[in-house]
Amino acid sequence: MNVSDDLAQLTVRIEPMTTQDLAAVMEIDQTAFPAPWSTRAYEYELHYNEMAHYFVARLDTSARQSRGVWNWLRRLGRANPPMAAPLLVGYVGYWLMAGEAHISAIAVRAGYRGHSYGELLLAFTLQDATRRGAHVATLEVRVSNILAQQLYLKYNFDKVGMRKAYYADNNEDAFIMTTPPLHSAAYQEKQRRLRVALVMRLQERADQDARRARARIPAR
Ligand SMILES: CC(C)(COP(=O)(O)OP(=O)(O)OC[C@H]1O[C@@H](n2cnc3c(N)ncnc32)[C@H](O)[C@@H]1OP(=O)(O)O)[C@@H](O)C(=O)NCCC(=O)NCCS
Repeated sequence: MNVSDDLAQLTVRIEPMTTQDLAAVMEIDQTAFPAPWSTRAYEYELHYNEMAHYFVARLDTSARQSRGVWNWLRRLGRANPPMAAPLLVGYVGYWLMAGEAHISAIAVRAGYRGHSYGELLLAFTLQDATRRGAHVATLEVRVSNILAQQLYLKYNFDKVGMRKAYYADNNEDAFIMTTPPLHSAAYQEKQRRLRVALVMRLQERADQDARRARARIPAR
């Protein structure tokens, strides 16, 4: 089961990040991190860092709100109702160096957290990095960031070390967290089971949203 293929049925999709995304990425960064990156830093990543791979998750909000709305507008005889642009709900980036995928950033838009989009971005990253030949994935996380650590623990990242005073804004320590070998049969199977459950959860959410949207539209 492949994350990208499974998303075909859903209203969220993952695409490579482009410079057109940077305004939305900066918006998310401002609320997600005490020391957000500059636009220039992202531009460098996208255009000059050959090791860098950045992706965004886009939510098709018009489809979310509106299977019901569409039908309703069609019945009113409006063939082309205006569609909202997809909303960038999160992003992820990693550097592929010497067989190691180093996750440099992952964040979900405030208001959309806890809806499995962070997990989707992580699951996608692990698949993408494996496909490009990474043997292991690793990252740093603030010792106080229990929520993010829970996500990484769910995907069997292990705390393998610590970087003292890693974060300049408050001198906080970082845990270094690392996956098991990405290609191992046991870890592949673990990821496969997690992805099946993830896609089902995302599908349920999309269906619920569609049902809620239909309930708001008066039947004719
Ligand atoms: C960390 C972050 C990316 C997670 O994304 P998310 O979309 O909110 O998380 P998800 O809904 O996909 O949850 C996935 C897992 O994370 C953990 N998690 C998510 N929300 C949690 C919460 N409120 N409390 C505890 N664990 C939580 C759980 O393990 C969850 O799995 P579960 O649904 O089986 O319980 C997001 O919260 C974020 O952007 N935080 C700010 C930026 C940041 O800290 N980035 C990480 C830097 S290392």
